[in-house]
Amino acid sequence: MSIMKILTFPDPRLRTVADPVEKFDKSLKKLTDDMLETMYSENGIGLAATQVNVHKRVIVMDISEERNEPRVYVNPEFEIKSNKSLFTFSEGCLSVPGFNEEITRPDQIILKWQNLDGDRLEDEPEGLLTVCIQHEIDHLEGKLMVDYLSTLKRDRIRNKLNKRI
Ligand code: NI
Repeated sequence: MSIMKILTFPDPRLRTVADPVEKFDKSLKKLTDDMLETMYSENGIGLAATQVNVHKRVIVMDISEERNEPRVYVNPEFEIKSNKSLFTFSEGCLSVPGFNEEITRPDQIILKWQNLDGDRLEDEPEGLLTVCIQHEIDHLEGKLMVDYLSTLKRDRIRNKLNKRI
């Protein structure tokens, strides 16, 4: 396994829309192993392939406190079941290091994805998992958590991150 370099906002490559995965082979398994190692090394709870400059529809997550429940979602997509129930969470992102911002998202969704064998799965996740999934699927669409903030706030974050480079 190896640790991959994570792109940070405002790197334009984070705006790439990822392609669907068609081959469920060893290289896909290796990619998810490397992504999990990278995510754990940065103490993150989720990572999308876009963030490591691989533009395929793959995300990894672990929302457990013990950091021992790795999850892999290939070609994930969701439908909002109801817009009535919302969940506000102070979100962070390994591509926007050092910032946490409160974002409100629908918390009743139907999630569909494939596993590493290509099997099709479906679930109705709850709470943190729901929010995290939507955050990661946004990455695959080239969207970032800063897009939910005001222009003023986004510019402030951009300026601070640009100074660090
Ligand atoms: Ni993120």
